[in-house]
Amino acid sequence: MHADPVRTARKAEHLDAAASPDAVHRGASGLDEVRLRHRALPGRDLAQVDLAANLLGQRLGAPVIVSAMTGGSEASRGVNVELLEAATEHGAAMILGSSRALLDEPGLVGTYRPCAARPPLLLANLGASHLVQGLTADQALRVVELLDADGLALYLNPLQEAVQPEGHPELGGAIELIADLVERLAPLPVLVKEIGFGLDPDDVALLADAGVAAVDVAGAGGTNWALVEGLRDDDARALAAPFSTWGTPTAEALRDAVRVAGLRVPVIASGGVRDGVDVARCLALGASAAGIARPMLLAARAGTAQAALGTLVEQLRVATWCAGAAAARDLGPEHLRPTA
Ligand SMILES: Cc1cc2nc3c(=O)[nH]c(=O)nc-3n(C[C@H](O)[C@H](O)[C@H](O)COP(=O)(O)O)c2cc1C
Repeated sequence: MHADPVRTARKAEHLDAAASPDAVHRGASGLDEVRLRHRALPGRDLAQVDLAANLLGQRLGAPVIVSAMTGGSEASRGVNVELLEAATEHGAAMILGSSRALLDEPGLVGTYRPCAARPPLLLANLGASHLVQGLTADQALRVVELLDADGLALYLNPLQEAVQPEGHPELGGAIELIADLVERLAPLPVLVKEIGFGLDPDDVALLADAGVAAVDVAGAGGTNWALVEGLRDDDARALAAPFSTWGTPTAEALRDAVRVAGLRVPVIASGGVRDGVDVARCLALGASAAGIARPMLLAARAGTAQAALGTLVEQLRVATWCAGAAAARDLGPEHLRPTA
């Protein structure tokens, strides 16, 4: 089998559309309203602040994830070089873009991993809708192996599938298939993520019961995938319009997920995370790490991904220090200002 030309073109279109200012969610992530304490006497030097974190069995230099974006098209190559080198340089994790195309054309592996850079935690990426369409656990394992990844991030994207002209809005029975996949891939970790509309607490509970290794709430406030699809097609644009404010803001989704499953499953926050202060806010709300996608796409396209991620990590260090914590992983509710 050969690469599907429609899918390859779609991947390139997605990069252009997602980079547009019109792709951004019209509502806020809620992270701006999360106020960290400011300690004028932080109790230590800035240089003593520790950013290291454990995630899915790997040691990260900082609890930051370059979230899933691209692979499978020529346009992906340059972006992925930038993202892989930045994540490796700063000890961040990285989720590769949707990797279904590799099963038809393993030669595309070079568009996902175009250079030797290897972040401390690297995850392959498939959709739950692929499982419903018949993708097997053996095929998922093959994708992880082809990419030499440490595990799999599985995305849930009902709204995008419903709006996308070529979409497959089929997620019936997905949770049973996810539970089966988790069992079949063990001990490799399976993380489950949304793509920017958030995970409802009932969904988080189902995923925790299914045994997933982590959940990424990927809430609303950043890239809006209904709007992205609308930028590619006029009919999709009409359908997508009222979904410009759809979904659970990231801060809310994160609070809910931590409440429902935080003791059983690591919770990751993404969706509208813009800088290292947002990362610190997510950690204080109970996240194990925070993910960032679109801002890293913009930086990668400008050839500045390493510098952008370096600035974000330094912002996290300063925020951790000024909030009075010795380590980013220590940030918690005690570092938040009480809400009035
Ligand atoms: C260009 C681009 C491509 C994306 N492709 C994928 C993908 O293949 N798989 C996936 O799980 N999420 C994908 N996402 C969603 C992101 O991983 C993330 O969940 C979402 O964009 C919210 O983060 P942000 O607000 O920082 O962009 C993509 C995002 C962008 C910007």
